[in-house]
Amino acid sequence: MTEIHTYAPRHDEPARDAHRAAWEERYQSRPAVWSGQPNQPLVDEIEHIAEPGRALEVGCGEGADAVWLAGQGWLVTAVDLSATALERAAVLAADAGVAQHITFTDAPVEDVIAGSEAFNLVTSLYTHPDAGGRWLVDTLASAVAPGGMLLVVAHHPTDPHAMEHPDLRTTAFDAAEVSDALDRDLWEVSATVRERTTRMADGHERLWRDSVLAARRHG
Ligand SMILES: C[S@@+](CC[C@H](N)C(=O)[O-])C[C@H]1O[C@@H](n2cnc3c(N)ncnc32)[C@H](O)[C@@H]1O
Repeated sequence: MTEIHTYAPRHDEPARDAHRAAWEERYQSRPAVWSGQPNQPLVDEIEHIAEPGRALEVGCGEGADAVWLAGQGWLVTAVDLSATALERAAVLAADAGVAQHITFTDAPVEDVIAGSEAFNLVTSLYTHPDAGGRWLVDTLASAVAPGGMLLVVAHHPTDPHAMEHPDLRTTAFDAAEVSDALDRDLWEVSATVRERTTRMADGHERLWRDSVLAARRHG
């Protein structure tokens, strides 16, 4: 059985508590929120890495990306605010036979980073934290080992879906802008806008516009 490390909230972080409650409510409202498939930008960026190591995934949701990474040989620490999402992620990992390669936790990401060795890969896909994209990149960059990779994917502010939803409109960000947080003497940075389409349950195709920040920390 997969182990989930449960954090005792300090209740001194009202914004994060409210964000956590909103995500928890969303997950509890449906038996599954996401597709169970890994995100394509993750697969595109990571599949070719020949030597997997230690990975940190922040905002893992129901666990499809963490399970995919573990299946590729990564030893994963997967973080999310929602206990319900983490329970589903743990079941997905057990069903996929990779439970022993993933540690799930709802601890604040700063605490996870402070209590861990640096990671060879740090990823966050569509997390859109309340503290914003620059905070996310800055925080996650501090967890990357020399020679390691940082991958942050978000809805771009011009993404049609994000433009329709007030929450996403305020938390979407442009990878090129938030990549300012990375010192170019220490990082090789690629910040791109990528479009993809998915077939929705009602049969229509939806266009997505992603911000993709992929950065390699010099060794
Ligand atoms: C849009 S979902 C994406 C889930 C998953 N990455 C995926 O693509 O299927 C955003 C997730 O980020 C989590 N989240 C938001 N802010 C977070 C934070 N500060 N720390 C950890 N998780 C966070 C939410 O609980 C939610 O599960």
